[in-house]
Amino acid sequence: MAKPSIEEMAAFAKKKGLVYPSSEIYGKLAGFWDFGPQGVELKNNIKRLFWKRFVWEREDIVGIDGAIITHPRVWEASGHTEKFNDIMLVCTGCKEKYRADLLIADVLGKDVDGVPIERIDHIIENERLACPKCNKSLSKGAAFNLMFETNVGAGKDPKSVAYLRPETAQVIFTDFKQVLDTARVRLPFGIAQTGKAFRNEISPRDFLFRSREFEQFEIEFFVDGKKKDDCPLLADVADLTVAVLFDGAKEAETITFKELVARKKAGPWHAYWLAGFCQFFLDYGIRPESLRLREHAKDELAHYAAACFDIEYRFPSGWKEIHGNADRTTFDLDRHAEFSGKELAYFDEETREKVRPYVASEPSQGIERALLAFLYEAYDDDKERGNIVLRFHPQLAPTKVAVFPLVGKLDAEARKVFGTLRKAFVAQFDRSGSIGRRYARADELGIPYCVTVDFEGLEDGTVTVRDRETTAQARVRTRELAEVLGRLLEGGIAFSALMKE
Ligand code: GAP
Repeated sequence: MAKPSIEEMAAFAKKKGLVYPSSEIYGKLAGFWDFGPQGVELKNNIKRLFWKRFVWEREDIVGIDGAIITHPRVWEASGHTEKFNDIMLVCTGCKEKYRADLLIADVLGKDVDGVPIERIDHIIENERLACPKCNKSLSKGAAFNLMFETNVGAGKDPKSVAYLRPETAQVIFTDFKQVLDTARVRLPFGIAQTGKAFRNEISPRDFLFRSREFEQFEIEFFVDGKKKDDCPLLADVADLTVAVLFDGAKEAETITFKELVARKKAGPWHAYWLAGFCQFFLDYGIRPESLRLREHAKDELAHYAAACFDIEYRFPSGWKEIHGNADRTTFDLDRHAEFSGKELAYFDEETREKVRPYVASEPSQGIERALLAFLYEAYDDDKERGNIVLRFHPQLAPTKVAVFPLVGKLDAEARKVFGTLRKAFVAQFDRSGSIGRRYARADELGIPYCVTVDFEGLEDGTVTVRDRETTAQARVRTRELAEVLGRLLEGGIAFSALMKE
């Protein structure tokens, strides 16, 4: 089934109230997006489901919500001030700016993510790469730091410079000691955070995929470095299979997470957390063939990582990263201990020793990229129905139920039903057009269930419930409706069970 291009998806998302270009009345601001009435619900559902699975349902993870602007020394310690750069090229004619690796990938089809400036310059010279807009020559590569600067306080001088966080992770490290002192955690344990991150991308593009303001859900999972190969939880995910594109390989191979560890490609905790996030995507509707892992090459690794895998989704334009997951070593706690002069250590009650915890896995999930993957996966141009159906998992669906009066005369009755349902679910009322048109509108928003109030129901106290997936219909007693919908949405019963009643 043909899926829309990224531009078509952006147009669809705008039309359906999912995502709007930000500041559009002023001509837009590249790299910034606003979430409309449907989009805010979808995004909140995704964030809540990550939080539910990886924080609420676990004993070994606690959450925090840190500040977006932090002390500037945080970014010196983390290495972002010095190393969080992309290589920029400027056209000597029209002055257009390009992110070197993206331009080289687009024009030459070469993956040069993470390669040093000298090699980029060499490629440009060798391949005679010119500006795609005006064909003039390009400048030499220059490092461009991606952090957004701001000033804190009344004065705008170098001392007041601070940065919007480019990742949520660092606040986890700077709060590490406070969590240790206040949350009764024991190694191995993780700290999670979800919130905004900002990057002044040179070439924001591909709709939500590469924006300048986005959200992350990140976990730093700390273990005792001496016991980092000891992961009792690996058994829970050991036999899950996944396609993996190893560094240097042309084709992905499908293996189990147990094999990933046995081949020493990932440590056991690293594999365990990669599996946990793959499972999340599978559980909420991504097909296994749309998901794979990609191993980072050694020269591509971020300055803090000993190993890294991305989870990639197969977009119509190709495989792209939706999740990064690094073995982050003790790098960050070491650096913050050094720069702050504070002891960032864990006291092991058993051995009576102080330990500098080791980050065996840092699951780093972009919320917008997850949203985009779920949106693509759900999008179905259903030729038989003659309309688009967003086949969202019911837990992801932004609006859960639509209520229709069959005819105008039944408005008041239908509104009563709507009034009850909206206390429990995100619901909408639709009275305009034929019932068929209203079903089509609901399908295009991915609403799992539509409820029609008709004359028959006035007699026997029932309504018609229509299932988005199959278009099947069942009659349900009005007084039981909220409970039945709740069970359907939670997966407690199948729709077919209602039809047998
Ligand atoms: N703390 C590690 C870290 O931030 P990253 O690979 O730079 O690692 C992690 O980013 C995730 O954040 C990516 O997999 C992606 O989902 C999301 N992300 C990064 N840059 C983004 C951007 N410019 N726009 C949207 N999402 C982005």
